[in-house]
Amino acid sequence: MDRGSELDFWAFGFFSYPVFLLEMSFNNNVVSINAVKKSFDDVSVLRGIDLQIKSGERVALMGPSGSGKSTLLNCICGIETVDEGEIRMDGEELGSLSVRNLERIRRVKIGYIFQSFHLLPTLNAFENVEFSAQLAGISKKDRKERTNELLELVRMNHRANHLPDSLSGGERQRVAIARALIHNPKLVLADEPTGSLDTETGSQVLDLLESLSDEFNVALLLVTHDKTSTRICNRVIMMNDGLLIF
Ligand SMILES: Nc1ncnc2c1ncn2[C@@H]1O[C@H](COP(=O)(O)OP(=O)(O)O)[C@@H](O)[C@H]1O
Ligand SMILES: [Mg+2]
Repeated sequence: MDRGSELDFWAFGFFSYPVFLLEMSFNNNVVSINAVKKSFDDVSVLRGIDLQIKSGERVALMGPSGSGKSTLLNCICGIETVDEGEIRMDGEELGSLSVRNLERIRRVKIGYIFQSFHLLPTLNAFENVEFSAQLAGISKKDRKERTNELLELVRMNHRANHLPDSLSGGERQRVAIARALIHNPKLVLADEPTGSLDTETGSQVLDLLESLSDEFNVALLLVTHDKTSTRICNRVIMMNDGLLIF
């Protein structure tokens, strides 16, 4: 084959490759946010947000209180609807989904970690994690095994029978991390997860998030006020007055 026909051959191969396969191989975005706007009453809270997060990528989101960080997280997990623009979660456009399908995405593809843990107070550590597995549709037999596995990974198996009230802040957040990861989500949204913890405990929680995100290839969107928390992230984005600054 001479040089010219070799090039023709490659060009033909490239252009005949189905477009959707190309998209699949080049586009491994877990979440893709395009021109999103959101207002509450007449207050514009998100004023045109574009953001892509790839599989396994960890992104820190910083910015002053009231700048719209939590609203963005709520839009990504479908708790809030957007007024304009679109959010694709693992390829599915949230605005086109029924309430039922939005709930499925939230339970199956996303894990959420909050500053104040949000564990159910009447369930012990094991039950809190197992309940999340149940919501995600994991079978009864598998979820016991998976709950034990996750509690072991966050080193909380020895405290499995304890109610949240009798656990320290760091221990509660470790249970919350196990809960967020039990169903092998594609994306974990963490809204100031170390905000209620002392520096040392917060640092351990971040190490844990980093190692589990690596181990399971889970993307992480980490909202934080604390610059040192961004050490576990691949990139840092600032939010100011409803806009992202890269
Ligand atoms: N459900 C809501 N109804 C009305 N206003 C809201 C609601 N949620 C958030 N806001 C307003 O949107 C702005 C951004 O809030 P938020 O997203 O919580 O910011 P951040 O997480 O960056 O502190 C604030 O002015 C807040 O009062
Ligand atoms: Mg917030």
